[in-house]
Amino acid sequence: MKELIEAILTHGKAINEDVLLVDSFLNHQVDPLLMHHIGETFAAFFRKKEIDRVLTIESSGIAPAAFTAYSLGVPLVIMKKQTSRIMTGDLIQTTVRSFTKGTEYQLTVKREFLPAGERVLFIDDFLASGEAAFGAIELVKEAGATVNGIGIVIEKSFQSGRKRLDALNIPVLSLARIRAMGPEGIEFLE
Ligand code: G4P
Repeated sequence: MKELIEAILTHGKAINEDVLLVDSFLNHQVDPLLMHHIGETFAAFFRKKEIDRVLTIESSGIAPAAFTAYSLGVPLVIMKKQTSRIMTGDLIQTTVRSFTKGTEYQLTVKREFLPAGERVLFIDDFLASGEAAFGAIELVKEAGATVNGIGIVIEKSFQSGRKRLDALNIPVLSLARIRAMGPEGIEFLE
């Protein structure tokens, strides 16, 4: 997606060869017009999959996922990383390990918001090693629903996530695919 690649080249910063800073338009300050176009792009690509709801993980997936759900006219469900006393009832949970952040968390969703038999589109801001996506797929499976598409805003193609997801035969659309990055600059795949 040309507009996203331009935003990454103009405002993104490769902190090192693994981590891209995009906090001025994607995950701290958010560019709503860019998110609107991201939502429209995902919606156009996945519309024929007859998606029943969009699913994401708090917090940075929420902006692109919300615009996608709006464009598709379906609900957005946010998987939580932290539970609270008011989050009770029939919960589905799985453990996810973040390699980038070196942390582990419980992904939680209320079963009533992930009805069995539905077709789900999972949207996230980054794809690195794919742990978050695999956690989401696990929860959806546990709910008796199916993941019919995966939309990623920025894929770090030099990490293992994309290959691992392709092996599942679920359609994946990544709007920007980074081949390599570092102090010299950022290189994209076609
Ligand atoms: P994986 O799910 O693909 O395996 O990725 P990994 O565990 O390595 O990283 C997950 C977390 O790290 C996510 O944030 C993701 O947004 C963030 N992340 C991964 N690579 C980058 C990067 O190059 N730049 C930035 N800015 N973030 C990256 P999270 O833990 O879910 O937190 P949140 O920001 O969504 O709250």
